[in-house]
Order: sequence, then C-alpha cells, then structure tokens
Amino acid sequence: MENRQENYLELPENVLENAVLPSNLPSKISIYPTKDGSNTLRNPLLNDTYHSRDGAVAEALHVYVGAGLAHTLAKKPQIRLLEIGFGTGLNALMSLQYVQNQVENEINKTNTTFSVHYVGLEPAPLDYGLVKELGYIEKINAHRLETHFRMMHECENEAEIELSENFFFQKEQTQLAKFATKNLFDLVYFDAFAPRVQPELWTIDALAHLHQQMNTQGIMVTYCAKGQFKRDLRAIGFEVERLPAPKGRQEMTRAVKI
Ligand SMILES: C[S@@+](CC[C@H](N)C(=O)[O-])C[C@H]1O[C@@H](n2cnc3c(N)ncnc32)[C@H](O)[C@@H]1O
Repeated sequence: MENRQENYLELPENVLENAVLPSNLPSKISIYPTKDGSNTLRNPLLNDTYHSRDGAVAEALHVYVGAGLAHTLAKKPQIRLLEIGFGTGLNALMSLQYVQNQVENEINKTNTTFSVHYVGLEPAPLDYGLVKELGYIEKINAHRLETHFRMMHECENEAEIELSENFFFQKEQTQLAKFATKNLFDLVYFDAFAPRVQPELWTIDALAHLHQQMNTQGIMVTYCAKGQFKRDLRAIGFEVERLPAPKGRQEMTRAVKI
C-alpha cells in the first residue's frame, strides 16, 4: 500500500490552476477504498489520494479533529479554522460532527460557548454526486448532518453559511497563494496533496504565506512529517511538535505560531 508522502510524479507547476472539475471528467477520478473501510478518491493525474490509504476516516479523526480541533478548542472555544484544501469535505464534516457532540456534552457541564468559523480553500471543487458515493454520512453515522454536508458542497462561493449555532462555514474557490486575509486563523488543517506530488504548496514561501494568515499561538496540523518540511516551519517561526500518526504511519506534525 502506497503512502501519500511517497508518491512521485513530475507535474507542471500550474497543474491545479488549470484543473478540470471531476464532474466534467468522471472517468479520471475514482473511488479508492482505504484500510479502515472508509473510501477516498484517487486522482490519476496526480497519482495521489485525497486521504491516507491506511484510512480516510482514521486520518481525519486523528490528525485534524483530534490533534487539531479538539486540542485547540480545549484552549480557545471560539476559533477561526482554515483548511487547505476542502476536497471531499470529510475533515469539515467530521469537525462539524465533533463540535455538535461537544456542544451537547458540554452544555450540561460547563456551559462553554463554542464557535467555529471554518473557511475551506478549494481550487477544484468536486461534484457532490461523486462525494455522496463515498458514503461518509453512513460511515461516520452522521445522518442528521446530511443536509449540512450537501450545503458545504453546494453553497455559494465565498458566502458564509450558518450550519449550526456553533459552526459557520465558507468555501473559497482559490489557491493558497492567492488567498490573504486580515481575519487571522487560530487553526489550520494543512491537507494539501503530498509534497512530492504538489511541491509548490510545501515551499518555504508557501508556508511563510500560510504563517501570515495565522494568529500568534495559532496551530497548524498536517499528516506530513518530512524533515525538510519541519526545518522550514522552524525557520519561519513555528514551534514544531512531532506526534504519533494514525495506524500505518509513523508521525504527523503539529506546529504553533510563536
Ligand atoms: C489531499 S486533498 C484534501 C482532502 C480534503 N481535506 C478532504 O477532506 O477531502 C488536497 C486538496 O487540496 C486542493 N488543492 C490543490 N491545490 C491547492 C491550492 N493551491 N490551494 C488550496 N487547495 C488546493 C485539491 O484540489 C484537493 O482537494
């Protein structure tokens, strides 16, 4: 089973700038079953999958919801969250589910007021028909969030929608390099295609640009744990933590903007 970090294919730098939507090319992107029984998508042009082949749901839960969202909300219950890139929306869906569960559990205990303002960047949005076939709603038992998930995919570009009292969602059809904001982020899910597949997203300049979009003490989580990547993060001004990865991998990275 290939690891996302090990895939290698030389691509022109602007391959995603000119990306053709999968809805126009149904035969190009295929559903790929991962080891935990959940599905992901495989892009043959990039020779990469949208999630770890060892488990799409396991990765979303461990790297993004666990090491990212749960960790951040425990310190700061009202946050702005940026995802690079939105893709199938699995990380976003599981984040909404986590916040809903927290609200229901916490309300009787501490009365914590959670609020998450999520912004997902996605230059090549997927057709919801294809995403639905992945079966995420059934897999994570999120039937009551089915309409929310559809709205995530079908909402107007750059319009913030209120998916619940505690979760606000916005999607921007743009690339990281073209995105800049004054409303800085407390948490970043850095879930780009692998460095060897899409190297332009992992350069020190790209990471420095990301750093500028974050609040001091803001947290960035990613599945990638490459040495050069971590050295670049330190050079830019992140404090880097190595954390155990989901089953099948060795490590993941969590970085704090200092
Ligand atoms: C590994 S997949 C992410 C999977 C996604 N987080 C999910 O839960 O399905 C990488 C995503 O980044 C998007 N992407 C590609 N280039 C990008 C860029 N320059 N800026 C932001 N997102 C980009 C891709 O289209 C793809 O959807």
